[in-house]
Amino acid sequence: MALLEVRGLRKSFGNIEVLQGIDFSMERGEVIAVIGSSGSGKTTLLRCLNSLEIPTEGNITVGGETVFDGDVPKRSEKELRDRRLKFGLVFQSFNLFPQYSVIENITLAMKLRAKEQNYYGMTKHESFEKINARAEELLARVGLTDKRDAYPGTLSGGQQQRVAIARALALDPEILCFDEPTSALDPELTGEVLRVIKSLKDKDSTMIVVTHEMDFARHVADRIIYMADGVIEEEGSPEDVFGAPKSDKLKAFLAKAEETI
Ligand SMILES: Nc1ncnc2c1ncn2[C@@H]1O[C@H](COP(=O)(O)OP(=O)(O)OP(=O)(O)O)[C@@H](O)[C@H]1O
Ligand SMILES: [Mg+2]
Repeated sequence: MALLEVRGLRKSFGNIEVLQGIDFSMERGEVIAVIGSSGSGKTTLLRCLNSLEIPTEGNITVGGETVFDGDVPKRSEKELRDRRLKFGLVFQSFNLFPQYSVIENITLAMKLRAKEQNYYGMTKHESFEKINARAEELLARVGLTDKRDAYPGTLSGGQQQRVAIARALALDPEILCFDEPTSALDPELTGEVLRVIKSLKDKDSTMIVVTHEMDFARHVADRIIYMADGVIEEEGSPEDVFGAPKSDKLKAFLAKAEETI
């Protein structure tokens, strides 16, 4: 069974329909790159998956469990939060808390959740020790152990984005989403972030990466989704999408991407 199923997903803002019926599914461990021109609805799709926007119509299920059902759109805040936990989202602009250190940024949500869950039957101290150990592990995974106590303002963009990735991983999302994770970075910092994302693929993470890094999409993604005007215009393997595009819109998009490299 597919891990994620998206069916007939629509989203309007006022009378503009930004997502016009999105259908796709993905398997556990799969990496999908979403490409497409500005305004095609890529961010809106990620925000709908992450329950940051309420879709107008459609269905989203993760592991067979309903995350959104257009027929029952009203949910309590708690329900929404639980569903949101199935997804992690890394933004283009990092969105770290500037007043907290690196380690605090990573542990904050884990500690809030532990409190909500009565520390999982442990003492507060025991539970926080575990959380700190997990955060250290994640910091090592993104190569930032030495920045543990630094504040975001003192880090490079690439380092901040790696902290944001560790923070997103902390809550063990089933599916990790990235919205143009490198577009705010200088070229020399882009590589370090892409390497971390690639290393997550090697650990079997399931990921949806909105990106304009065509080389990265081609070499890291298992499947490419090309969006145009609120629909999936074409999808397929990197070889097919980049090597033998069928849609005229996709051909034009790729030609333009080629020019800007
Ligand atoms: N909150 C909102 N209210 C009104 N319109 C919105 C809102 N969010 C997005 N839109 C519109 O929806 C369309 C799709 O936006 P979206 O941000 O999803 O595009 P995108 O593919 O991510 O583009 P980009 O590559 O520039 O990030 C755009 O026309 C945008 O203006
Ligand atoms: Mg966007």
